[in-house]
Amino acid sequence: MKINFLIIAALTASSTWAADATAGKAVFATKCKSCHGADGEGNPAIAKAMKVEMKPLSASTADANAVVTKGQGKMKPVSSVTGADLDNVVAYVKSLKK
Ligand code: HEC
Repeated sequence: MKINFLIIAALTASSTWAADATAGKAVFATKCKSCHGADGEGNPAIAKAMKVEMKPLSASTADANAVVTKGQGKMKPVSSVTGADLDNVVAYVKSLKK
């Protein structure tokens, strides 16, 4: 029964989530910034080490949700980012777009 309650609680919470770019920025700072830089402009040292061109995320047309959950090219999936954190970090990446 406790498990049922948790599932209902999670579903209820998910229907009221408004993806929040401000909360997403905090997720980005802990999970993405080391590679992508504070504002998604890319960390040149990481780009060099990974031998990859780090495009600024502000110019990205990629589906950030798919990139984080499935990975893309040299970026491995960031499996620790799920649920509201995932929605929020995707909203943050979208907010970078000009
Ligand atoms: C270990 C370093 C690393 C981490 C951590 C990381 N990324 Fe990436 N990311 C990359 C690299 C490298 C690429 C380029 C991948 C490629 O296309 O080869 C990339 C690509 C992307 C792209 C696609 C850019 C484009 O237009 O092609 C998005 C969106 C993205 N990352 C979002 C995120 C988010 C959001 C997080 C945090 C949850 C994150 N990344 C964490 C290294 C990282």
